[in-house]
Amino acid sequence: MSEALVERVAQRFQDFTGPYLREPGDGFAYRLKVEHTNRVLALATDIASASAVSGQVHLAARIAALLHDVGRFPQYKIYRTFRDAESANHAAFSVRYTLRGNMLAGVPADLRRLVLGAVILHNVRTLPPTLPPETLAVARIVRDSDKLDIFRVMIAHFSQESPLHPEVALHVQPHPTAYTPAVLAGLLKGETGDYREIIWGNDFKLMVVGWLYDLNYRRSCQILHDLGYLDTIFDSLPHDPPIRDLRGRIMAHLAHRLSGA
Ligand SMILES: [Fe+2]
Repeated sequence: MSEALVERVAQRFQDFTGPYLREPGDGFAYRLKVEHTNRVLALATDIASASAVSGQVHLAARIAALLHDVGRFPQYKIYRTFRDAESANHAAFSVRYTLRGNMLAGVPADLRRLVLGAVILHNVRTLPPTLPPETLAVARIVRDSDKLDIFRVMIAHFSQESPLHPEVALHVQPHPTAYTPAVLAGLLKGETGDYREIIWGNDFKLMVVGWLYDLNYRRSCQILHDLGYLDTIFDSLPHDPPIRDLRGRIMAHLAHRLSGA
């Protein structure tokens, strides 16, 4: 039953994205979001399976992973950007278009609430502390999965393995050594970065490094470790003393999380 439900929603997602993918000229931007969604689903399945969560949370996390970025498609079509600040909150769009497209037909009401809760919360800077435990668990799995895949997208972008697209890295300015001291200072205090402070490509990399502080599950930290993303990012940043200091702290934090402490 549960696998069939995920497959039904996956089919609806595919039906929803089809017309966007066929739009002349914009296939690249939309294809990125379809591929991102597929990887977020795989990551959410991995994290949920490796963590002690209920069957309900496991199922809701997988469905929410499929739907979390539904809003990206109409966002880009209407506004020609993925930047929420200049267009619309894409998580709210995801909920609106999920409901409008009846993509949760046949999903029981309690599961539906968990899914929509995780979708709307997937891009907030910090989760409200008073969420019901199951909503919190689902939201945390989707947020970890989303971040882990953005690490990969970002590395591919900056190493130019994939074609450059102005929307991928949110219009940051490329520069080999420049970064914003305030972004680094925030990370050294253990704070997660703020998109609004980002100017340079290196700022974006630093902000993404800081997402380690925000990963909720030990399995998420293990995946980050196994993929070597942090080393890849630090190798591409300037090697000055403040960044070396940050690298030491970040790696120590990762080791601490993996030790299960
Ligand atoms: Fe998103």
